Amino acid sequence: MANLKALVLAGGKGTRLRPLTHTSAKQLVPVANKPVLHYGLEAIAAAGITDVGIILGETGPEIRAAVGNGSQFGLNVTYIQQEAPLGLAHAVLIARGYLGDDDFVMYLGDNFLLGGITELVEEFRASDYDAQILLTQVADPRLFGVAELGAEGQVIQLLEKPEFPPSDLAVVGVYMFSPTIHEAVRAIEPAPRGELEITDAIQWMIDRGHRVGSHLVDGYWKDTGRLSDMLECNRMVLEGVERHVEGTVDGHSELIGRVQIAAGAIVEDSVIRGPVLVGPGTKIVRSYLGPFTSIAEECVVEDSELEYSIMLGKSSIRGVSRIENSLIGKDVEVTSAPRRPNAHQLMIGDHSRVQISQ
Ligand code: DAU
Repeated sequence: MANLKALVLAGGKGTRLRPLTHTSAKQLVPVANKPVLHYGLEAIAAAGITDVGIILGETGPEIRAAVGNGSQFGLNVTYIQQEAPLGLAHAVLIARGYLGDDDFVMYLGDNFLLGGITELVEEFRASDYDAQILLTQVADPRLFGVAELGAEGQVIQLLEKPEFPPSDLAVVGVYMFSPTIHEAVRAIEPAPRGELEITDAIQWMIDRGHRVGSHLVDGYWKDTGRLSDMLECNRMVLEGVERHVEGTVDGHSELIGRVQIAAGAIVEDSVIRGPVLVGPGTKIVRSYLGPFTSIAEECVVEDSELEYSIMLGKSSIRGVSRIENSLIGKDVEVTSAPRRPNAHQLMIGDHSRVQISQ
């Protein structure tokens, strides 16, 4: 059997998760305290693939630091630098040397697919398809690649973020390709938004009679490029966590349900209603943490209430009630105003979004 590789896309711009993505890669935003990208790499390893090419953009150094040579996942990683985010098909174009004539799985580094890709990879291996795409029903298909299927379920047409979608079937960011895709990505022209679109390359294959299969994903899928999707994805993963307490919890605190307190974390005089994750070295003092909250390492939550939120490392919230539905970056401080006037005082980065309740 021919070798099967993976191509993981971890470049790109990440404009929809600004300001976090001004300084960090969007593929490294944590879901249940673990970078989104790690879930993808684990799924690839679980499917029996070992050779993985990772496309890097501006945030390359950060991705390299988080993945290394891939051995922590049982993978053999090769990095491929993309000079600018010129499109998903452009990423395939520059990976030609690495991919050679092998079949491969292309995995978008900000996509989260619960249940992995093992079955899909096996289905592709057993088929004679030149490409296999995954589709799922979504509420607003205008935000995605969209497929139109024929009477027998065959893919007739693929459109990238169409204003008038022909169906509600979005293209999920996991694709399987035979080497025919290399011919396709060389043949197409950049789309109006300037990028070489993978949807156009697959359409090129369809138009020339190559076999393109589709598979309807019934499990859970999210493109984590937007805040609401990030939080929803975090909720989904936290639904599956078990109670596990390693850190120190004092006698005045109450942990309800599935709560994980990592080693070195301290909980004092607080109520935590799971599912909640508290990362290593984090301190929760005189506070309430509500369901579906993930707090990373070395944070402080003091005299505050936080629910349905993600908090990245080394941040603090002091004297604020109450924060919900929020994504708080690294090294962030949120505090109550120390004295009169009783006013909101803000120092917020470019492209931030703040909602203040009156
Ligand atoms: O998430 C599924 C959607 O992903 C599909 O429905 C669309 O058809 C597909 O075009 C793609 O759309 P997005 O607008 O979400 O793609 P985005 O620009 O966010 O890029 C996806 C990933 O690939 C992301 O991790 C960044 C990376 N990337 C992107 C580009 C354009 C690269 O590594 N290089 C690039 O040039």
